Amino acid sequence: MSEKKRIPRHVAIIMDGNGRWAKLRGKERYEGHIEGVAAVRETVRAAVRNGIEYVTLYAFSTENWGRPADEVEALMSLFCKSVISETPELAAEGVRVRIIGHRSHFSTVVREHLDEIERRTAAGNKMTLVLAIDYSSREEITDAVRNIVVKAAQGAIRAEEITPDTISAELYTAAMPDPDLIIRTSGESRLSNFLLWQASYAEFYFPQILWPDWKESDFDKAIEIYASRERRYGLVKETGEQLPKAD
Ligand code: FPP
Repeated sequence: MSEKKRIPRHVAIIMDGNGRWAKLRGKERYEGHIEGVAAVRETVRAAVRNGIEYVTLYAFSTENWGRPADEVEALMSLFCKSVISETPELAAEGVRVRIIGHRSHFSTVVREHLDEIERRTAAGNKMTLVLAIDYSSREEITDAVRNIVVKAAQGAIRAEEITPDTISAELYTAAMPDPDLIIRTSGESRLSNFLLWQASYAEFYFPQILWPDWKESDFDKAIEIYASRERRYGLVKETGEQLPKAD
């Protein structure tokens, strides 16, 4: 067996604990989100250094629209400001940004900023940073089912031809490998409507640390922990030939 360290191709992160981080310091919740951008920067640097191909960050769930209006407003403004402040470094590091979620719910200004970061980083070939914004895994799966039903009605696919790959190909993450490692900070251990289909064989890691405190070294530790785990995919032992192609 090779001694080479096992590196995940795709790491997905639920960035949790911004509000608690702020509260502990007597600050407003949005100040925790602002500090959270620094943790995003740490993550991208560590991921590029570790040779990770895909990082997906859960930045705003569809359920988050139900938060107080001033917090939602602050998050929208932060996304726009971050596009402006972070795009040069992302482009220089060869990071391509993709947005997944229901972009149509955003204001025109926010949509333009999201379009801009995708456009200006499109040439990046070192790593893909996927931002899940206005994202709901159940809606994503529902959209996929709807698309497949339309294709079936048009005669483009028959019911007996539908396989798990058919569904994967209709998700927002089509053409990306499933996440190998899913991290949720702040000690919570829930998926909260994040990548439910794609998480089928993922490893999970739930560190206690609040997202604004997350550093490059915490990402490195998560990679070490992943490397030390044995993935079996329901089989008895891990052998190259038996592993699903996607991994
Ligand atoms: C969850 O913490 C965090 C969010 C809903 C927002 C995450 C957004 C950022 C970190 C900004 C990222 C910016 C870019 C550009 C991707 P919470 O508010 O639920 O924390 P709590 O559970 O302690 O209340």
